[in-house]
Amino acid sequence: MPLETTPPSTTVCVTGASGFIGSWLVMRLLERGYIVRATVRDPENLKKVKPLIELPKADTNLTLWKADMNIDGSYDEAVQGCEGVFHMATPMDFESDDPENEVIKPTIDGMLSIMRSCAKAKTVKKIIFTNSAGTLNVEQHQKPAYDETNWSDLEFIYSKKMTGWMYFVSKILAEKAATEAAKENNINFISIIPPVVVGPFFMSAFPPSLITALSPITGNEAHYSIIKQGQFVHVDDLCEAHIFLFEHPTAEGRYICSSHDATIYDIANMIRKNWPEYNIPIEFEGIDKDIPVVSFSSKKLEGMGFSFKYTLEEMFRGAIDSCREKGLLPFSTQIHTNGENKESTLNSQEKHTGIDNQEKELHSITKEKHMTAGENGKCD
Ligand SMILES: NC(=O)c1ccc[n+]([C@@H]2O[C@H](COP(=O)([O-])OP(=O)(O)OC[C@H]3O[C@@H](n4cnc5c(N)ncnc54)[C@H](OP(=O)(O)O)[C@@H]3O)[C@@H](O)[C@H]2O)c1
Repeated sequence: MPLETTPPSTTVCVTGASGFIGSWLVMRLLERGYIVRATVRDPENLKKVKPLIELPKADTNLTLWKADMNIDGSYDEAVQGCEGVFHMATPMDFESDDPENEVIKPTIDGMLSIMRSCAKAKTVKKIIFTNSAGTLNVEQHQKPAYDETNWSDLEFIYSKKMTGWMYFVSKILAEKAATEAAKENNINFISIIPPVVVGPFFMSAFPPSLITALSPITGNEAHYSIIKQGQFVHVDDLCEAHIFLFEHPTAEGRYICSSHDATIYDIANMIRKNWPEYNIPIEFEGIDKDIPVVSFSSKKLEGMGFSFKYTLEEMFRGAIDSCREKGLLPFSTQIHTNGENKESTLNSQEKHTGIDNQEKELHSITKEKHMTAGENGKCD
């Protein structure tokens, strides 16, 4: 006789639930029987919340809550009665004219405001914070390998102010402040450190990290340096790790969650082999072909019993399939170099299937300067 499984029916809150990773996590939590409170800044924005309300079990187990990290106390109601909070929301405006007030301050103040909401609620046992590799390896020279004891060099970040610097600062300071606040309030605080997250998605916009991961296809050169010595994880593995650490009774502290280390040449070769219809650069200017990989160790996570399921190829397949389905990426590219201009042309079959809009989108993505700084800010 098959064993009956009892669903957890535990109530948890996911902040930033409409985002790339947040929406995938909500799906996995609902599947397992969790009661999920999803926070978004604007529950009326149907374009953003539709993928959430259409998820299986959403009609019975999901509620949407309006909350903003810029407003103190905004999360009070959403976390009241929750046992766990998955804090995914983060401001990511790397073009901000006022990064201190638009990115750094809201990330730290928002994190602390959520901690206060949790302390007031008295029901929250664990907060899982989705942090970033930007807290780990942003420094003058890359080490061959990183683990949870490493921290990015704040002085270096402030002195260089590289793309995404405010995001790295915001995440470093938010984790440090939250770790202290958690001790004071006796809440178990866990920080998960993912590298570039790749995979399928529900949202209608291009997920920020896929702009980086798929840059060898789109030709978005501003993102090459981010993955020149990259690390990657599938969105599903990352979400499973969030739930694993939430459910694990002895989990504590920081956890790197990264399954693959690869240079930009490894990524380019893998894409070229699997998707020969895309024109992928053979060389990346200024990046040595023999550049070594930089490795992120997930030993601490794996040592607790977690296993990664996906290959690098599967991550990219999920991402490319979702982008194609949503008309965010053409089905093929033929790049002709003509003087200084690069032109993308479509084959006749694609023209018949109305891919012209995708081509426009490709150009707009290609022109995009830097929507994300990626997650590792290699700066050596
Ligand atoms: N993707 C990656 O490669 C990667 C790697 C490492 C870490 N991370 C971390 O993973 C988390 C999720 O990232 P993602 O890739 O899913 O990004 P995303 O799709 O941009 O999602 C982030 C969400 O944050 C919300 N948000 C932004 N500003 C906010 C504010 N002031 N108050 C409340 N909510 C706000 C937005 O939701 P609304 O607009 O709906 O309110 C947005 O959907 C972030 O914490 C990020 O730092 C991502």
